[in-house]
Amino acid sequence: MSEPQQPRRVTIDPSSIDDASIALAADLLRAGELVAIPTETVYGLGANALDADAVDRIFAAKGRPSTDPLIVHVDGLDMAGRVIDGPLPAPAVRLAAAFWPGPLTMVLPRHERVPDAVTSGGPTVGVRCPSHPVARAIITAADLPVAAPSANRFGRISPTSADHVAEELGERVAMIVDAGRAEHGLESTVVAVHDEHVVVLRDGAVTREALADHVQVRTVADEAERTAAPGHDVRHYSPRTPTIATLAAPTDAPTGDVVYAGYADRPITLPRGWRFEGLGRRTELASVGHDLYDTLRRLDADAPSLIVVELTAADGIGRAIDDRLTRAASGQVAGDAAMLAEMIANALG
Ligand code: TXA
Ligand code: MG
Repeated sequence: MSEPQQPRRVTIDPSSIDDASIALAADLLRAGELVAIPTETVYGLGANALDADAVDRIFAAKGRPSTDPLIVHVDGLDMAGRVIDGPLPAPAVRLAAAFWPGPLTMVLPRHERVPDAVTSGGPTVGVRCPSHPVARAIITAADLPVAAPSANRFGRISPTSADHVAEELGERVAMIVDAGRAEHGLESTVVAVHDEHVVVLRDGAVTREALADHVQVRTVADEAERTAAPGHDVRHYSPRTPTIATLAAPTDAPTGDVVYAGYADRPITLPRGWRFEGLGRRTELASVGHDLYDTLRRLDADAPSLIVVELTAADGIGRAIDDRLTRAASGQVAGDAAMLAEMIANALG
């Protein structure tokens, strides 16, 4: 048996892209290998979306269940046409004009050439055109639609740097392309596109408010459709440390080895033994989103007995942040101080 291969790691400066490195990544993708690529949201674990064996390798490397479909990354509308069946519905045309390239994934009817593994056998495919110049250069050079989930082990915190990818996937990938910290730090917004409207399946960097400037956004049907959509488990993006999310301050909560992640501009008094970790300022939520996964990884590495994260309770990007924090807490959300105190007492045993 051969030694496990260390992945080849290359650094590409997005403002002066090295064609030779791009060609290397593109060749590996064309050969059916896995390449971790930088995007403006989080790092992705890329493979040729039209090669079922290559796509199977993604699921194996992540330990991801085959019931969770992948997003296909394209370099523009022409390439999107290779994975979508039929003409784009009107809302998709408007959203592509407004938000592509960028952090918006559209779920559309799937072309028959897309392997079942990508869509979990379903009739739709999620498609996104990333704005990251390195991601787009690799896709264009490979001349292939690239299936790419976030480059983390299944259920873990998404990677926002090449170091995170190396920690998560190590030698399970052929190559890691390092282009520095991800710009948004939160995954793309995922919308199901219908003939007249869209339904938000996952909040992300493109806010509902921004979508609503261009298309009709349904929110009533959300809950039913969201739980019906594959791959939207409530436990996701999770630290290993037990985590609770809260809307209320920890008044009367027990003392203990607890880290409280809150906002610098909403100072609170903590119980004895607790440590405060800043998520940033609540008035600067884009920056909170940018740093969120990095902070959660750091807190987890500290290995306290418990992490308590404060929700933003804000609109806009706050929705995406609260969604990720709620999932980090496996859906355990305290609505008031009494509930929080009880949940913490239970968690600390
Ligand atoms: O920002 C992002 O979207 C990153 C970067 C790498 O592009 N990718 C990402 O992929 O977050 P992943 O696999 O970690 O999350 C994709 C989400 C999953 O929740 C999946 O269920 C949903 O998109 N999705 C993909 N295809 C879908 C489909 N056909 N129908 C419904 N949901 C779909
Ligand atoms: Mg993911």
